[in-house]
Amino acid sequence: RIAGPCSLVIFGVTGDLARKKLLPSVYDLAAAGLLPPGFGLVGFGRREWTDDEFRQFVLDSIEGRTRAPFKRAVWERLAEGIRFVGGAFDEDAAYGRLAESLAGLDAERGTAGNYAFYLAIPPAAFPSVCGHLDAHGLAQERVVPSEDGSGGGASASGSAGGTGLLAGGRPDGASPTERDHWRRVVIEKPFGHDLETARALNGAITEVFDERNVFRIDHYLGKETVQNILALRFANQLFDPLWNSHYVDHVQITMAEDIGLGGRAGYYDGIGAARDVIQNHLLQLLALTAMEEPVSFEPRAIQAEKIKVLSATRLAAPLSETTARGQYARGWQGSEQVCGLQEEKGFAEGSTTETFAAITLEVDSRRWAGVPFYLRTGKRLGRRVTEIAVVFTRAPHLPFDSTMTEELGQNALVIRVQPDEGITVRFGSKVPGSSMEVRDVNMDFSYGQAFTVSSPEAYERLILDVLLGEPSLFPVGEEVEMSWAILEPALEAWASGGAPEPYESGGWGPTSADAMLRRSGREWRRP
Ligand code: BG6
Repeated sequence: RIAGPCSLVIFGVTGDLARKKLLPSVYDLAAAGLLPPGFGLVGFGRREWTDDEFRQFVLDSIEGRTRAPFKRAVWERLAEGIRFVGGAFDEDAAYGRLAESLAGLDAERGTAGNYAFYLAIPPAAFPSVCGHLDAHGLAQERVVPSEDGSGGGASASGSAGGTGLLAGGRPDGASPTERDHWRRVVIEKPFGHDLETARALNGAITEVFDERNVFRIDHYLGKETVQNILALRFANQLFDPLWNSHYVDHVQITMAEDIGLGGRAGYYDGIGAARDVIQNHLLQLLALTAMEEPVSFEPRAIQAEKIKVLSATRLAAPLSETTARGQYARGWQGSEQVCGLQEEKGFAEGSTTETFAAITLEVDSRRWAGVPFYLRTGKRLGRRVTEIAVVFTRAPHLPFDSTMTEELGQNALVIRVQPDEGITVRFGSKVPGSSMEVRDVNMDFSYGQAFTVSSPEAYERLILDVLLGEPSLFPVGEEVEMSWAILEPALEAWASGGAPEPYESGGWGPTSADAMLRRSGREWRRP
């Protein structure tokens, strides 16, 4: 579906996220013909740029980063709707200039008063930005009465004193409906630092924007392989009968990265791996893996199931044995010698920020009773890989000579989130020859081979969904708060538990992470 007339305003447009992900995705949406002819792209930031200087910045940012090949005609059409508003997030007058710029786009390009405000900025600034948007009448949709004075059937819900900008109607000439007129806010993680700050943040944002107009980005939900978890589970008969504590021994969710944190101290120091990715990406993967079938694929039905499973999820005890925390030390990444976190620029001396975290979760439900979910993530590990491995119980009886099954492990279904996206099923097979020797083999499904179309970038899909008003792939406030509540006991224990265990760069994390699984006779997969 093509988005309707609208403007996308990016706060923090000179930041890494905007340059590397958001702007290239906007170009790719334009190249795919998914943006409306009346589209505006407004950058808001602390530079004194003209519109043309900002256009050049956008052009430089997208170069070499788009999925679609660069086409001058696409760029020129997009560039016509590009504007820049200079100012600080807390400078009230800047929002007056923003309102003017948006009104100008409405008049010139028919963007119809529909605005999405993308806050790619530190969360501490969210409440202030939302407050200023509200004060300038930019946060609430409003409807310019149609010629017969009826308001065109749409609701007018803004606060008094706003600019009342709506113009134009639907391209098909039908009367506008409430869905045609909107103001949305898009927020990037971290959604708070803990449960209390997340609640305060949700409170401050929903004071200005209705929950239905708040789009919280968890870019993992924009990945095809993540969306495929629900297709795999609920479009097939093959897997569901086994998807429970009778047949599943445990689940391992791994998000390993080979990169370090050079250049990211400002964001990462004091945050750490658990807050950075377990609270959001990994708990969302768990929710999709463990939730029950939704009654439909309506956003609310999916959210209800995710909320239900998250509310049944808790950390296993005792935390000293079921969690692990590490920090990368020097080592080798391939043939390159790399420094430890303590030597990275910008990190506080003796920083105790973890770059590796592992936790054990239990889901209190009939389906999952007694099945541990192990979640781990780390920087500077052996390779970049994200996967969900559902590891099955052993066959209750093997009618083979035990020497013939020495290389037979447990069956596993591995959802390869990235890279090399696909699914692997591991099972035992007879080794060709005269004896009945059995060992593990893999059966693979690979996106690259099965489909000829390439997958959209996560941000492409998510930005389009914001403009379309499709909320399925965005966690609601309740999910975010539940995720913090699940993680909080570990964060508190770690805060008073001293420094994280150092681990060698290029390896697979601290020894305490291995010990954590060994206690129950299990081990981490080496992807
Ligand atoms: C972000 C984290 O959310 O996800 C980063 O803040 C991490 O620390 C990134 O590197 C990984 O994303 P992807 O899509 O490359 O797996």
